[in-house]
Amino acid sequence: MKLGVPKEIIPGETRVALIPDTVAQLIKKGAEVLVESGAGLAASFLDQAYEKAGATIVPDAATLYSQSDMICKVQRPVMNDALGKHEVALMKPGSVLITFFQPLVNHEIVQRLADGKITSFSMDAIPRTTRAQSMDALSSMSTIAGYKSVLIAAGSMGRFFPLLMTAAGTVPPARVFVLGAGVAGLMAISTARRLGAVVEAFDVRPAVKEQVESLGAKFVEMPIEEKTETAGGYATQLSEEAHKREVEMLHKHVKDSDVVITTALIPGKPAPVLVTEDMVRDMKPGSVIVDLAAENGGNCELTEAGGDIMRHNVRIIGPLNVPASMPVHASQLYSKNMFNLLALMLKDGQFDLNMEDDIVAGTVITHDGEVVHQGVKAAMGPALERSTA
Ligand code: NAI
Repeated sequence: MKLGVPKEIIPGETRVALIPDTVAQLIKKGAEVLVESGAGLAASFLDQAYEKAGATIVPDAATLYSQSDMICKVQRPVMNDALGKHEVALMKPGSVLITFFQPLVNHEIVQRLADGKITSFSMDAIPRTTRAQSMDALSSMSTIAGYKSVLIAAGSMGRFFPLLMTAAGTVPPARVFVLGAGVAGLMAISTARRLGAVVEAFDVRPAVKEQVESLGAKFVEMPIEEKTETAGGYATQLSEEAHKREVEMLHKHVKDSDVVITTALIPGKPAPVLVTEDMVRDMKPGSVIVDLAAENGGNCELTEAGGDIMRHNVRIIGPLNVPASMPVHASQLYSKNMFNLLALMLKDGQFDLNMEDDIVAGTVITHDGEVVHQGVKAAMGPALERSTA
């Protein structure tokens, strides 16, 4: 089995799917690994390191795709303008693709993969179960985004984070409010605490109160009578009435904060709007909002995806692809997640599609010319029927 690691071509993407350490481990498992020259460069992994790990460096994407039985990538496949061909079209029919491609919304890619007879796995479909934790690349990337969101805020604010007692007077600590205490939120809380801020957090799932408090932050409480958590541990969408109460309750906390970091997410839904224009207007001049949900519509009403704007004297930042701003560790974590998934599918260096395994079955999207993932099939619905008719 030849595994190929191409250079990512989406602008701004600096991560690489497999780092040299992982390549060495895969070779030990009997795989052959091809790496496109320069694939790891933006993440500081040089061709020489891959060669030392036992990989073969190939000069260009066309050679890599034509020789690989499995492609390990980070970003969704796109058009390769230099070659005038879509990355899916560069792959061999019957080969395997593992990458992030959000199949629930990127139906055109799913269709291409099915038509190209590619067996595809989407890293964002890995279930958030205990057994799959070591493969959960979304969580790895959210850990990075949560950490970085605090550094972005600290670097964008004209104030210190910690309490300082200096000869020129005392500086009070920054007040940070984190909305949504999932993976990114908890990491943001612990990072802001380490920088010396006074931190408050809110989440609709009361189960996270203990985790928030264990990190030294105050959990803001609001009684919610309805169910707010699925059996899988994800948040459910609040009723209109509960959402209205939540927004009212948040107003005072947002107004009193120097920094607001928003990470609220309900899987498969647009980001809930928690910070309104009225709240922003009431914030102190010079305050900062970092909205990690920007790509998904934003938790703040005024956020612009990818933007860094001033509204009512408040700086509102909606960063996109934050993990790419820390490519070394982002690649290292992603590579380890991918290795753990590959370990379920490589038997003596050969690909073995074991649909009895719930992680494999939950992550495979297309196989043998068909869309095999039930959720994606349902989301594509009539479009899929039309294209196969
Ligand atoms: P997660 O699912 O672990 O956490 C989301 C949290 O939001 C959950 O704890 C949930 O209970 C909470 N929540 C849902 N509705 C809420 C509401 N109305 N009020 C308060 N809390 C609410 O998700 P994760 O992995 O931490 O990701 C968080 C966000 O960060 C997502 O929007 C994700 O897309 C984004 N993200 C952005 C990146 C970027 O580069 N901009 C990179 C990685 C993640």
